[in-house]
Amino acid sequence: MKRTLGVCYYPEHWPQAMWASDARRMAQAGITWVRIGEFAWSRLEPEPGVFDWDWLDSAIEVLAAEGLKIVLGTPSATPPRWMLDRFPDMLAVDAAGQPRRFGSRRHYCHSHAGYRKAAADMALQLGKRYGRDARVAAWQIDNEYGCHDTVLSYSEAARVGFRDWLGQKYQSIGALNRAWGNVFWSMEYETFDQIDLPNLTVTQPNPAHEMAFRRFASDQVVAWNAAQVVALRPLTDAPLIHNYMGRVLEFDHFAVARDLDIASWDSYPIGFLSDRLEGDAAHKARYLRQGDPDMQAFHHDLYRALNNGRWWVMEQQPGPVNWAPFNPAPLPGMVRLWSWEAFAHGAEVVSYFRWRQAPFAQEQMHAGLLRPDDQPAPALEEAAQVATELTTMPEVAPTQSPVALIFDYASDWAWRTLPQGADFDYFRLVFETYRALRRQGLSIDILPPNASVGDLHGYKALFAPGLASVSSELMGALADAAIPCLLGPRSNLMTPEMSTALPLGPGIFGLDARVVRVESLPPASARAVEGGGAVVHWTETLEGDAIALLEHTDGNPLLVQAGHMHYLGGWPDAALWDRIVALLCADVPLTLLPDGLRLRDTATHRFAFNYAPEPVTWNGRTLKAADVTWWPLPLPD
Ligand code: GAL
Repeated sequence: MKRTLGVCYYPEHWPQAMWASDARRMAQAGITWVRIGEFAWSRLEPEPGVFDWDWLDSAIEVLAAEGLKIVLGTPSATPPRWMLDRFPDMLAVDAAGQPRRFGSRRHYCHSHAGYRKAAADMALQLGKRYGRDARVAAWQIDNEYGCHDTVLSYSEAARVGFRDWLGQKYQSIGALNRAWGNVFWSMEYETFDQIDLPNLTVTQPNPAHEMAFRRFASDQVVAWNAAQVVALRPLTDAPLIHNYMGRVLEFDHFAVARDLDIASWDSYPIGFLSDRLEGDAAHKARYLRQGDPDMQAFHHDLYRALNNGRWWVMEQQPGPVNWAPFNPAPLPGMVRLWSWEAFAHGAEVVSYFRWRQAPFAQEQMHAGLLRPDDQPAPALEEAAQVATELTTMPEVAPTQSPVALIFDYASDWAWRTLPQGADFDYFRLVFETYRALRRQGLSIDILPPNASVGDLHGYKALFAPGLASVSSELMGALADAAIPCLLGPRSNLMTPEMSTALPLGPGIFGLDARVVRVESLPPASARAVEGGGAVVHWTETLEGDAIALLEHTDGNPLLVQAGHMHYLGGWPDAALWDRIVALLCADVPLTLLPDGLRLRDTATHRFAFNYAPEPVTWNGRTLKAADVTWWPLPLPD
């Protein structure tokens, strides 16, 4: 498959006289795709029921005349002001009970049936007009579900929907009371209609109640997306896509993806480093202009798992963004590096956000490929360089990685609901596992929590940290897989209803180990491990006769084993992770990489990416800061 570039464009922001030269310059830069329309509702339907297609017809015509392929967005992330007059109760409500008002975007509650139908009707209108238009070669539905904290809504529509969802799930109020343990604190209900959303309680709500609400909220996003899919599907053969975000975990992306054809995500490496990643000041200073060396790759691998390997970067950061606390510019070369990294992880398309920096409104400080005065910004040349390189690069087809890592959205909800320690964060735990594997030069595939034994075929090791509850199917698949598998810390210690598993977990067949006590640790405290490294954030006391591969210096077991199954009773620091990866990956060649260098293998090539701010030498080549290089595989010995 030919890998291509795209760009996000807002014809409605610019005089029509500029469109033709924009299209020409996009084509000259080697761009293939142009995404339009996803926020343009107020121009597409200026009054209820009055549609204006003329400008969009012209924009499509002008762009397609230069050979550009259109990705058309449904505009449901930005309902126009009149929609609120129609549905005054359509706004999401925050946990403090305040409506999230008009004046920016994503101002809707996924549970509101009226707005959900209005959005599906808009998708239908767009589908009728452009569904069979070959120039529209892909669709984007909505924009970034969950961005700006928009999954959990405490609206009246959500309350009504939640009660209905609970009734369907539990069938009788007695079953719900038993499942949630509502005898505790006299929380028993007599009818489903008495159940409120789990906000504004005096102290912590029942974790089972909160977990049920989180599952419900995720299902609402799935149903919301599906409503537009149902409208569009019969009208087009072009693929349906959604653009996910980085570290947005409040809904199950695997479930949304089941209704779509291609996954995509919006990659803002420098914004994410500043805005949503842990890391000490030294780490943040070192990667200030490059982004974290594992954050992009992690999401590439996660989103590659959603639709059988089909995924894009729908928005790629091109320069300083506007929304993080601090917004430095990328090192020269980083836009090229990020683009190639995505292709090496299997992206079909990398699309830059945005074509020209807007001179007005919220994002006027956000860079584009062009400056607001229409002059090239530094990223334009880098994008053009990638386009040229793509024409000479042979196929970059992905291949199976040696190790697999399980990612489970419900485990994030479980540990948010019952963290037990302020530093226990599921994403952070999985991400540190991923980082430990990548530091050793490994390529990684991410798998869903319902992976079957067939899905595990061909891997040499599997990691599943922090899985709140492991289904009996997955436990069986791991047992049958006969490759080294690591569960823990905190794996399979809870039921899906947020009760303590009894008998005590992890309940691994043939592994005589029980977690009899857990402790969370504050920052700067650690529990030392015999032979080097330490446990941080979270430590468990294990009982049982399983063989201990690693022990704490106090003699208590930390990593226990029976056959190929392993359980880890603590959260490792980086030094301990290196030892654990070496133990589990005895059958995989490991290479401890220089700080900031990362590798990724495709079917035919090994790529190296230098995220470090200084030159790095590896395998006979020196990569300057922000450089990318690749070798054909196999490498000579
Ligand atoms: C994304 C969003 C875009 C734009 C961009 C700015 O989250 O999808 O519309 O706001 O961020 O970085």
